[in-house]
Amino acid sequence: MIICFSGTGNSLQVAETLAPLIDDNVTLLPDLGEITDNRVVWVCPIYSWGIPPVVLDTIKALPDQTGREHHLVATCGDDCGLADRMFRDAIAERGAQSGVIATVIMPNNYVALPGFDVDSHETARRKLDATPERVASIARMILNDDSLTDVTHGSMAWIKTRIIYPWFVRNEMSPKRFHSTDACIGCGICSLTCPLGNIDMVNGSSHQVPCWGDNCAACFRCYHICPHHAIGYGKSTKSKKQYVNPTLMENLKKLNKIK
Ligand SMILES: Cc1cc2nc3c(=O)[nH]c(=O)nc-3n(C[C@H](O)[C@H](O)[C@H](O)COP(=O)(O)O)c2cc1C
Repeated sequence: MIICFSGTGNSLQVAETLAPLIDDNVTLLPDLGEITDNRVVWVCPIYSWGIPPVVLDTIKALPDQTGREHHLVATCGDDCGLADRMFRDAIAERGAQSGVIATVIMPNNYVALPGFDVDSHETARRKLDATPERVASIARMILNDDSLTDVTHGSMAWIKTRIIYPWFVRNEMSPKRFHSTDACIGCGICSLTCPLGNIDMVNGSSHQVPCWGDNCAACFRCYHICPHHAIGYGKSTKSKKQYVNPTLMENLKKLNKIK
């Protein structure tokens, strides 16, 4: 079983590329039923050098996993800090064994803090071109039953994961910072495509506008997918660019969520 969470589609691309290589199926969070397979592969992005709370909380809420092996394939723009340890600890607490833990470097989608923006087209293209080969090599590790950790920790990994991650989760992942701008035409694509169904369209002065509830993963899909760049987060996203992995658009079209 492959369990995937994805905001802008990078992790979805990895999960869908991996599935046929290891003869497995993809389940998208939050729609997780009972786990019956002994092999579980989590595919998700890295958030602030850690495991996204939407994924970590799901792992922590699992029933006893004794006898199962859980692997992690995490996508990140640059590096993952000590997210591998965070995953291993959470899996061990559920009684399971952790197997392969690997990162795939993919286009960056983080835009909210000053100094952060999506990659240039060239960089994004280069990363996407390298993805199939990297996923194939991770598939081989999983099939060979290796318990390998093959991740890009980056510099100052301890500080990033143990100090910055908890601060980030407390202060930089609030749905209250999302807002629509004057460019919004009320098309509702943000609401239709939010992976957690956390955006309602409500009456504005001349048309409907998005309103964010509390159940937000801070995945930034709403910001990136808006066709009018009409969603902001705090004050610093106005001049930032957008990024969506083509796999997400194809998937949403198949689900009739967008045309
Ligand atoms: C809230 C947030 C925090 C992020 N933090 C990191 C990070 O610590 N390190 C990193 O390399 N990339 C980081 N990124 C970039 C994503 O991990 C990367 O673009 C990932 O492939 C996105 O996957 P998705 O398209 O499946 O959502 C962050 C993105 C978001 C939205």
